[in-house]
Amino acid sequence: MASSTLICETQPWKDLKSHVEDIKKTHLRELLSDTDRCKSMMVDFDGITLDYSRQRATPGTMDKLYNLAETAHLKEKINRMFNGERINSTENRSVLHVALRAPRDAVMQSDGKNVVPDVWNVLDKIKDFSERVRNGSWVGATGKALTDVISVGIGGSFLGPLFVHTALQTDPEASKCATGRQLRFLANVDPIDVARNIAGLKPETTLVLVVSKTFTTAETMLNARTLRAWISKELGPSAVAKHMVAISTNLTLVEKFGIDPNNAFAFWDWVGGRYSVCSAVGVLPLSIQYGFTVVEKYVDKKFLFFYSRFLKGASSIDQHFYSTPFEKNLPVLLGILSVWNVSFFGYPASAILPYSQALEKFAPHIQQVSMESNGKGVSIDGKPLPFETGEIDFGEPGTNGQHSFYQLIHQGRVVPCDFIGIVKSQQPVYLEGEVVNNHDELMSNFFAQPDALAYGKTPEELLKENVLQHLVPHKTFSGNRPSLSLLLPSLDAYKIGQLLAIYEHRVAVQGFIWGINSFDQWGVELGKSLATQVRKQLHASRVKGESAEGFNFSTTTMLTKYLK
Ligand code: F6P
Repeated sequence: MASSTLICETQPWKDLKSHVEDIKKTHLRELLSDTDRCKSMMVDFDGITLDYSRQRATPGTMDKLYNLAETAHLKEKINRMFNGERINSTENRSVLHVALRAPRDAVMQSDGKNVVPDVWNVLDKIKDFSERVRNGSWVGATGKALTDVISVGIGGSFLGPLFVHTALQTDPEASKCATGRQLRFLANVDPIDVARNIAGLKPETTLVLVVSKTFTTAETMLNARTLRAWISKELGPSAVAKHMVAISTNLTLVEKFGIDPNNAFAFWDWVGGRYSVCSAVGVLPLSIQYGFTVVEKYVDKKFLFFYSRFLKGASSIDQHFYSTPFEKNLPVLLGILSVWNVSFFGYPASAILPYSQALEKFAPHIQQVSMESNGKGVSIDGKPLPFETGEIDFGEPGTNGQHSFYQLIHQGRVVPCDFIGIVKSQQPVYLEGEVVNNHDELMSNFFAQPDALAYGKTPEELLKENVLQHLVPHKTFSGNRPSLSLLLPSLDAYKIGQLLAIYEHRVAVQGFIWGINSFDQWGVELGKSLATQVRKQLHASRVKGESAEGFNFSTTTMLTKYLK
């Protein structure tokens, strides 16, 4: 395929367009009765099992999808990413978040320079700083230990760390290390979020991390100034040096803000914001909260970096993604199946349904990773695309979601679902004597829902159950609704890292096949610049009493009401 050819103009795409019409004639009930087919749709890696037999696909479909992936030069594109080529062409940057979790002795180049030593310099600095905060040798202005952390950042500088923090909070090993500490996240510029974050905290025992790749994001900078004022008011301006540190690629602006660059933790322009959880963006707050080192009991009985268990998990998937044939490659399979659902069935949405409360912030994080990456209208060469890219991602942990939006996915719109289950819960069950304990009850639903979606319930079955005739249409489930299941043996830092990397690479695979740039985000700019215009107006009205000007009727009217 020539680089300027759109993927939809290729023969494999056209083959899949006609193939989908055949598949539409076959119900998942039939597909699931073919055991050989089902066997071929189960893949294991490092204790994780992927079952995609409830996709509306046959082995023949998969061959066609692999063919499409080859035509899209998927493997070459993955290689180019790992080789540090500037695949984010609109920002002229390489995309090397995989280097953030590479082993110390690995070599990963950006612009001919091995970036891994830089990564480990920052990790070493984080280890040192987080240990000093935790053991009380870095203290606040009044000499008290800093037991509480507020991480100020938004989007990619917030969602990933929040997801990992939420997932580690109930991990017994991790939570033991967090005793007596609090980690909070201030993202929204809304004064309500400020109030919630500082509620019950004292400046003298609080450390504020200002997390911003650019150090220009309006919300983050305003929140950072607000917390700087909160600290200064109580402890005086000189206290800022002890109570505020920064994580950014823009160390010049960090210094301008008043934070000593020695207290700044760098990352690099080859790390996209939404792919930055493995940089200082995530590693610093999580290391302060949980500790950078603990005894690793289960792997090799040596002292290892606790936090690096998370990085090791992500790295294990990076290796798997880089070196495994498509047929056994978890992120590739997830990515191409999503392309199948979005581009050939036309299903616009995708639900992420972890059956673990610890993963309650996973869907919001992946929502940003996926929708900010792949919600594009043009190819990487700037050609308008005659097909939709991206998907609408949403999700909630089971079983909560079942009592919320599952009605729609069972009898309303078709939404392909990713069910994520955990064999061994992070937490013990109290009711050992019960026939079914809490975790088994949770997992009963994890196993039942994919079949309910796939098989549905026919009017004939209902009539056999003596359902009243007039209720039959209401109680009928068409079924034939695709899903896939991921079963993880446990949910510790290592597995959390793996899950993160699987979904990060899934998103890259989608974008590589659609032929778009998954690593820029120009779509967020217009709203930002219009907000600047409004901000100026609000200032002029408040300070000089000027009335709203230069806006359309609707905005002028609403602004005037607001200003009154
Ligand atoms: O929402 C747009 C965006 O640029 C995201 O990509 C990014 O994660 C977020 O804003 C925050 O940006 P920064 O880390 O530069 O403050």
